[in-house]
Amino acid sequence: MTKNALITGITGQDGAYIARLLLDKGYEVFGLHARRASDTLWRLRELDVLDRVELIEGDLTDLSSMIRAMNKSQATEVYNLGAQSFVATSWEQPILTGYVTGLGALNMMEAIRLTNQKARFYQASTSEMFGKIQESMQSEATPFYPRSPYGVAKLYAHWMTVNYRESFDMHCSSGILFNHESPLRGIEFVTRKVTDAVARIKQGKQKELRLGNIDAKRDWGHAADYVEAMWLMLQQDVPDDYVVATGRTTTVRDMCKIAFSHVGLNYEDFVVIDPKFYRPAEVEVLLGNPAKAKAKLGWEAKISLEEMITTMVNADMKRVAREV
Ligand code: NAP
Ligand code: GDD
Repeated sequence: MTKNALITGITGQDGAYIARLLLDKGYEVFGLHARRASDTLWRLRELDVLDRVELIEGDLTDLSSMIRAMNKSQATEVYNLGAQSFVATSWEQPILTGYVTGLGALNMMEAIRLTNQKARFYQASTSEMFGKIQESMQSEATPFYPRSPYGVAKLYAHWMTVNYRESFDMHCSSGILFNHESPLRGIEFVTRKVTDAVARIKQGKQKELRLGNIDAKRDWGHAADYVEAMWLMLQQDVPDDYVVATGRTTTVRDMCKIAFSHVGLNYEDFVVIDPKFYRPAEVEVLLGNPAKAKAKLGWEAKISLEEMITTMVNADMKRVAREV
């Protein structure tokens, strides 16, 4: 029997990768698509899945469109990946971030409760909820301390996911995912900003790269690996929360070194520190403990930071070369 899945945020990085994963597993895939003036379908095109998914118009802030999406898709699995996901923007648009990233998740769960309470739900929780870290390595047991309106909104959605699981016996799971990147990463996030700049500098189209706090440390994995973990969570008999991470942390500075040296350049010759990119409150370091995901889901990260960053640089070298 075919399984039906509904993905919010299908036009984002993770949405595109999980759409491909589910199609490969034989699912019928539906995705929520907000009408936008600019093209948001490029990732689905790059992975060659656009023609194989059905897009449903809707917005996470509009409960009625969530209900319609549930009815139309007849989904038995729902992946809630839609969000205002850029941390820096969340200080400029804190209320929008609260509506979309926080209440949006609740709208999705309410739509499930009202239409098909048996549908399984995945919530895209985040390591940003650990914020000002309370333990050097963060696990499911580490207390949260979010440091941005985005982190606070995600924490609300996270606890609502736990609440719906416990109140209504719904199959709601939360993946506390650490940073994950890919050639499909949005240009505003630091890894892609760096790999795009490396390609432009190498091809003589840019002179310098302006960054903020390059001493920040992140536990970076690859999105293609991480969407596997999302799917595995919804295949379990019992819903639960899982940290998904690599267990290795690296500074933005060292990530820059990897990217620049891949094309024979020294990052120190091009990176300029610009206070404009500092945040009102910084998450200095994140390092996840993925032991539970390994033990219970049999999941672990396969792609190394070096492999991922060099693949991203190669993809941007091609993109920049194609530009007129
Ligand atoms: P992304 O590339 O920024 O994608 C976000 C998606 O949300 C886009 O499809 C966007 O649609 C959609 N969206 C924005 N506002 C919406 C609204 N009002 N209604 C419906 N959809 C809306 O994010 P990502 O990196 O794929 O991450 C996926 C999810 O995981 C997000 O919830 C993010 O917060 C979370 N997360 C990400 C990471 C990471 O490192 N990537 C780590 C932990 C958690 P448009 O294209 O139309 O704007
Ligand atoms: N974006 C950006 N731009 N970040 C910079 C820059 C810059 O010019 N310079 C330094 N950084 C630092 C940020 O201050 C932060 O410490 C780190 O690089 C990573 O920033 P981002 O790539 O923007 O990601 P993030 O860690 O804030 O958030 C991402 O990961 C979260 C999971 O931990 C997003 O994908 C979130 O949606 C996700 O929840």
